[in-house]
Amino acid sequence: LPAPANDRPLTPEPLRALAARLRCPNCGRPLAAGDRSLACEAGHTFDVARQGHVSLLPPGGRRARGDSGAMVAARAAFLGAGHFGPIADAVAAVAAGALRDEAGREPVIGDAGAGTGHYLAAALRGVAGARGIALDASAPALRQAARAHPRIAAVACDVWQGLPLRDAAADLVLNVFAPRHGTELARVLAPGGALVVVTPGPGHLAELVGALGLLGVDPDKDARLHARLAPAFASRARPHRRVRDGARTRGRPRPGRDGPERPPSRPRALHGRVGRLAEPVRVTASVTVETFAAVRPAR
Ligand SMILES: C[S@@+](CC[C@H](N)C(=O)[O-])C[C@H]1O[C@@H](n2cnc3c(N)ncnc32)[C@H](O)[C@@H]1O
Ligand SMILES: [Zn+2]
Repeated sequence: LPAPANDRPLTPEPLRALAARLRCPNCGRPLAAGDRSLACEAGHTFDVARQGHVSLLPPGGRRARGDSGAMVAARAAFLGAGHFGPIADAVAAVAAGALRDEAGREPVIGDAGAGTGHYLAAALRGVAGARGIALDASAPALRQAARAHPRIAAVACDVWQGLPLRDAAADLVLNVFAPRHGTELARVLAPGGALVVVTPGPGHLAELVGALGLLGVDPDKDARLHARLAPAFASRARPHRRVRDGARTRGRPRPGRDGPERPPSRPRALHGRVGRLAEPVRVTASVTVETFAAVRPAR
């Protein structure tokens, strides 16, 4: 038997406030918030999860592979220790700059591939009244994102199957070390809105890349980023801001668990190399924070 309705969680305030910016993944109609769910006019209903997020994944099809609980926990610990603090500060500063004319209008910031909501929360702290929509395929990540800031609504989606946002729903969209679908990002941005993309720069985590035999940053990465976002976006300034700072890991990194990298394809060999690292491991963080403007509506 289904659980009685009053056993299910109430729709959190941020999801209520932002429901009208979301769209139904089944039919594309706008959503409205009910007591314990979001629903469209056609009657498609999406229950709020116990931890406060809602899934707007399209029906059927393959499930996107979001980060596992272990990966999310490792990332939360790494980010929570402040190792990438300067990157969060840079994102917050760029977001505040991009939204400085929106003061008093409660601008909406989307974060495509938000993970734990770390960077979205940093951006929201810098823009009074702004609200955030954390978008990710990973339920463990969204549980964290829903708690990362009181003005975050956490929504499950697969960015490759379309963002569950209405056209022009966001004044700013963040995309930090995460997959990006150019035309969808352009579609959901309001006219004059900006996309802020954070990508690894040359030398990012170079000490680990060298010692562990990981894949380094592709030198053509900037060009590929621009090609992928064109023609929907034009870079406003290139690069907008670059951060370079020492980050110190606590003890040895555990492959695939600590830090921002994906699990290795050959974990055995990598574990051996990690064991030979001298502690603490001091690494360079080098990223590009770049702002793009949508040059024309995608449709
Ligand atoms: C490297 S993490 C970055 C997370 C966060 N932006 C940060 O920097 O801490 C990439 C994120 O993208 C999410 N992701 C991967 N594929 C996705 C997809 N198809 N749709 C939505 N999210 C996806 C993962 O679950 C993960 O949270
Ligand atoms: Zn619908």
